[in-house]
Amino acid sequence: MNEVQLHAENVRQSAAKITAALGGLKPKIAIILGSGLGGLAAKIENPVTLAYGELPGFPVLTVAGHAGQVILGRLNGVPVIVLNGRKHFYETSDAYPLKTMIRAVQAAGAEVLFLSNAAGSLRAPIKVSELMLITDHINFLGLNPLVGPNDEAFGPRFVPVTDAWDADLRAKIKAAAKQHNIILHEGVYMAFRGPSFETPAEIRMAQLWGADAVGMSSVPDCLIARHCGLRVAGVSCITNMGAGLSDEKISHAHTLENAARGAGAFERLVATAVPLL
Ligand code: HPA
Repeated sequence: MNEVQLHAENVRQSAAKITAALGGLKPKIAIILGSGLGGLAAKIENPVTLAYGELPGFPVLTVAGHAGQVILGRLNGVPVIVLNGRKHFYETSDAYPLKTMIRAVQAAGAEVLFLSNAAGSLRAPIKVSELMLITDHINFLGLNPLVGPNDEAFGPRFVPVTDAWDADLRAKIKAAAKQHNIILHEGVYMAFRGPSFETPAEIRMAQLWGADAVGMSSVPDCLIARHCGLRVAGVSCITNMGAGLSDEKISHAHTLENAARGAGAFERLVATAVPLL
C-alpha cells in the first residue's frame, strides 16, 4: 500500500471503531478541544472513551494539556464526538494524523466540526480569559495540510475557503452566548507555526494584517474539514495578550493556567450552543 491508500484504510478502520463504540448514537457534531480546554470532556453524559492509540492513524500525543482520547456521548442532551488532543504543526510536518482524526469523524457521520484553541489577543478590548468567535483566518503556518497527493474520495484538489468559518453556525453560537451572558468577541485568527511564541514585531505585523488573535492551531483542522465537506465553527480562549502588548510573560504554563480561567465560560458556551447547531 502507498501512503494515500494506507491513510484511506486508517480512516476507514478508525471510523468503523468509532461507529461501533457509538452503539447507535448518531452525532452530527465533533468538537476538538484546545490547550487547557479538556475540562469539557468531563461534561459528556454516559461517555464511552477510545484512546487515540486504539485508532489506526490517530496521533500519538506528546504535549502537556492534550489527553489523546475520543469521547463519545451526549453534551446537554446532544450526541457529540469529542476529540481531546491533537498534533500541532510545531511537532511535525506530517498532516496525516490530523487528517485521519477529522476524516474519520466525518466518515462516522459528523457534519459540523467545532474547533477550540488557546490564543493570544491582538486587541485591547479582547481580554485575557475571554472568548473570541473565529470569523476568518490567516494561514501563516507556511504549510497547508492539503499539500501532497489528493484523494478525490475525501474531497476536491482545490478547496474554496471563502466561507471557511460558517456564518450560520456563528449566528447560532452568538445567540447561545447572548442567552447566557457570555462575553464573546469576534475576530480573525492568525496561525503561526510556533513553537516559539511571536516577537513583538511579528505581533505588530499581525495587527496590521488584520488579525485579532494569534495561535498555533485550528487553521489546518479547518482546511482539512472544509475539504471533506464539514461545516466549521471555532472559539479561541484568550490566554494572554500578544507579545509586547502587555508586561505579562508568555509561556505554555501561563497558557494552560489562563485557559483554565476561561474554560468555565467556554464549556457553558459549547454546551448551550450544541442544541442550536
Ligand atoms: N501566540 C501563539 N500561540 C498562542 C499564544 C500566543 O500568544 N497564546 C496561546 N497560544
